[in-house]
Order: sequence, then C-alpha cells, then structure tokens
Amino acid sequence: MKGLVLAGGKGSRLRPLTATGAKQLVPVANKPVLFYALEQLVAAGVTDIGIITGDTAEQVEAAIGDGSAFGAEVTYLPQPAPLGLAHAIITAERWLGNSRFCMFLGDNFLRGGIVPYARHFRERPCASQILLRRVEDPTSLGVAVLDGDGRVQRLVEKPREPVSDLAVIGVYFFGPEIHRITPTLVPSARGELEITDAIQGLIDAGHEVRAQTITDDWIDTGKKDDMLEANRLVLGSLQRRIEGDVDAESTIVGAVVIEAGATVIGSTVRGPAVIGARTTLRDAYVGPFTAIGPDCELSGCEIEHSIVLEKSIVRDVERRIADSLIGREVIVERSPLRPQAVRLMLGDHSRVDIV
Ligand code: TTP
Repeated sequence: MKGLVLAGGKGSRLRPLTATGAKQLVPVANKPVLFYALEQLVAAGVTDIGIITGDTAEQVEAAIGDGSAFGAEVTYLPQPAPLGLAHAIITAERWLGNSRFCMFLGDNFLRGGIVPYARHFRERPCASQILLRRVEDPTSLGVAVLDGDGRVQRLVEKPREPVSDLAVIGVYFFGPEIHRITPTLVPSARGELEITDAIQGLIDAGHEVRAQTITDDWIDTGKKDDMLEANRLVLGSLQRRIEGDVDAESTIVGAVVIEAGATVIGSTVRGPAVIGARTTLRDAYVGPFTAIGPDCELSGCEIEHSIVLEKSIVRDVERRIADSLIGREVIVERSPLRPQAVRLMLGDHSRVDIV
C-alpha cells in the first residue's frame, strides 16, 4: 500500500501564518503537524509515500527531504493549483498506478495513529474505507450515512438536516477503482473537485465503501484554536526531559521539556510545556500547554496555552499572553515611546484581542 499525503492547499483559515509558510509545517508541541502524518503512515507499514505540494513546495521539501529521516521513501507530486482533494488524486494518478493507497490530509491530526485501520484495509480490501468520528456539530463537515453492516450508503456535505453525526475525517483508504471515478467529477460550488463526490461516485457505481468509526481524538488543524487544541493533546502526554541550562532561581514544575542549548534564568515553567533549543527565558513565566519554538527570547512576560514559533521575541509585556499563536520572527514588546499606545505592525488577516 502506498501513502498519499496532501500538503498543498491554500491555508486561508490560518492566515497570516500561511501567507508565508505551509500550514502543514505549523508545529504542534514543536513538531510540524505534517510530521505526525508521516510517522503514523510509516508506523502502519506504509513507507512509499507521495506528497502533494502547492505554493509552499520548497518549504515542505526542505523539511522532509527524501523521507529517510522518517524511514520513508518520499516522492513529491506538485499540484498545479489547489483544485480539491479529488484533484490531488488525479495529480498523483500516474505515481499511484494500480496500488491501493492511504490518503492522509497533511493538516489532520489523529492522536492514536492509523495502524488498526490500515491493517483492516489490507485484510479486507474494498474500493474505499473511510474513517468517521462522532461529532457534536456536524453542520460544517462531511458526514456519512451507514447501513447496518458498516457500509456507507451516502455522504452528505455540511448537512442542514441532522442525517448523521458521523463526520468523515481526513484519512481515507482507496483501491485503484477511484481512478475511474475522478475523471467524471465536476467542480463544486466552491470550484473544487470534492473527495465526498468521488466517494459517492464509487457508491453509485456499485462499489463497496466501508467505514470505521474511531473514538480517538481527531483535529483538523485548519484554524488557530484547533492548533492550540492539538498542542494541548500532544503536550498532555509529554515526558519530562531537561537538557538545557536552568539556574537556581528558576522553578520547573511537572512535564516540561527544555531542549539542549536553551537557557532558563529566574523563570518559572509549569508543564506540560516545551521550550525549544537555544531559546532563552529570563524573568518569565511559561504556563501549561505552551510550546515555545527554538531560538526565541522571552523576558519579563507571562504566557500560557499558546504556541510561539521559532526566532520570536516577547519582552516586558505586563499582561499575561494566553490562547495565542505567534508566528516566526515576531516581536511583541513593551515600548517606552510616547504617546502610550498599542502600536501594531500586523500582516493581512491577523487578529489581535485587546482588553
Ligand atoms: P483544506 O483544509 O480542505 O483546504 P486548504 O488548505 O485550501 O485550507 P483553507 O480552507 O484554510 O483555505 O485541505 C486539507 C489538506 O489538503 C491540507 O493539508 C491542504 C491539502 N490540499 C491539497 O494538497 N490540495 C488541494 O487542492 C486542497 C484543496 C487541499
């Protein structure tokens, strides 16, 4: 079985971070969300992996290389434009050949991995096996209606009527039958070739589409709060590891990782939290569920339940920062300049909440 990981797309919901960076490379507990997908495919014995790329191809390739660091052999498959998840399958068609494959959306986070589902698909191959997760509010998702035997009868995109609360999650298994359906698809109202239409096409053509319902945590990390939630989940099972320098005036409580080369001076870190390599904390408080990336500088500030990407500086900020996602090379600091005012230099689609 091959793996097809989707790392193209627009990432419009995570702007401005995704204006310059791939959304699949935004870190969860200091590791790009895309890496979890690759690791989970390899853990399920899927090592021949194609990665769909878009405008951010260069960054994705730089981060993953030939895949050997993951125990995989990676082939990059540039998609000319983000024309939909089913279009990504068309883009990969020649590379996929007649292989069965697992398609994994590069921004989807599945806490427990895919080992049992991959095994099930290998043992009982069918045209498609999808994974479902019961959700409270399915109105913004694709849902599946099943028969009594776990076969999918139909898929409904963003249901207005409560037909099902079983959301289709971003990990799909396909046989080569799918390549007979994708050429028949037409763009949806949002101009994309939809994967739900492709799967519905398989059902309508009489193929067997089966579903497995997962109970594990699943997060589509398209938005800031989803990233923070994925971060919270991963940090929740963190093991304490202190490799950086911590001075005698500092207090480190609970599950905290301090990477090599990091320096903690007169600060408190209350886990679960991770402090990246070569980052300096000085007179700072880092609270639970926070991931500070490498090469950052935090001084005279308090932060919790947040993600800070590499090379950012937070200095002398009186108010505690919480529930925040701070990008790369960002500076947040108190200014002595008058008039006393909040001065902002924000990218398009930024969001700031001021009390
Ligand atoms: P989505 O989150 O559905 O789409 P998007 O990346 O365009 O994001 P947004 O809605 O915020 O603008 O995509 C799911 C995953 O699939 C994500 O990792 C991007 C990837 N993708 C592709 O590789 N090619 C595509 O044509 C599309 C639509 C998505």
